[in-house]
Amino acid sequence: MSEFGPTTDDDVDRIMEVMVRAFAPEYGEAWNRRQVADSLILGGTRYYLIDTEGNVPISADQAAAGFALTRGLFDEEELLLFAVAPEHRRKGLGASLLTNVIADAKARGIRRLFLEMRKDNPAGLLYISYGFRTIGVRPGYYRTTSGDRIDALSQELLID
Ligand SMILES: CC(C)(COP(=O)(O)OP(=O)(O)OC[C@H]1O[C@@H](n2cnc3c(N)ncnc32)[C@H](O)[C@@H]1OP(=O)(O)O)[C@@H](O)C(=O)NCCC(=O)NCCS
Repeated sequence: MSEFGPTTDDDVDRIMEVMVRAFAPEYGEAWNRRQVADSLILGGTRYYLIDTEGNVPISADQAAAGFALTRGLFDEEELLLFAVAPEHRRKGLGASLLTNVIADAKARGIRRLFLEMRKDNPAGLLYISYGFRTIGVRPGYYRTTSGDRIDALSQELLID
C-alpha cells in the first residue's frame, strides 16, 4: 500500500519507470516489476511517490520523479529502495521524499528507520544530513558485475 491508499498497477508502473533508470546496472540494486509488485502484496510494505514539484503523494495523471519503498515490522522500518530519476537530481527531491518518509514513519509510531547501502554511494551524504549514523559494516558484501567487492554500511535513524 502507499502512504495514502492501496497499491494500483499504475503506481507500480510509475515506480518502475524511475527504477529502470535510477540505479547503475553494475551494482544490481534495482528490483524488477515482479519483485516490487510481490513486496507490495505483503503487509507492512509501503511506497511513496514524488513528482517534479516535490508533491507527495502525486496526482493520478503525473509521472513520478522519484519513489521510496519501505517495510515495517512493529516499531521499526527499513528503507528498502530510494531513488530519484537522473534528470531530476540535485533539486531537493530526494530530501523532500526522505522528509515525507520520516514524518509518516513518526506519525505511525516508528522508532527506528534503518537501511543498508554501498559504502561509496553519495546517497550517504543525504542520509547523514538527516541524522542517520553507521551502525555496522559488512566487508565486501556487494559484488559488482565486474567482480569488485564493496562494503555495505548499515545505517539507522532513531526517531523520537
Ligand atoms: C540518492 C538520491 C535519491 C538523491 O536524490 P536527489 O534528488 O538528487 O537528492 P537531493 O537533491 O535532495 O540532495 C540533497 C543533498 O544530498 C546530498 N547529495 C545528494 N546526491 C549527491 C551526490 N550525488 N553527490 C554528493 N552529494 C549528494 C547533497 O548534500 C544534496 O544537497 P545539495 O544538492 O544542496 O548539495 C539519487 O541520487 C538517486 O536516486 N541515486 C541512485 C539510487 C540510489 O543509490 N539510491 C540510494 C540507495 S541506498
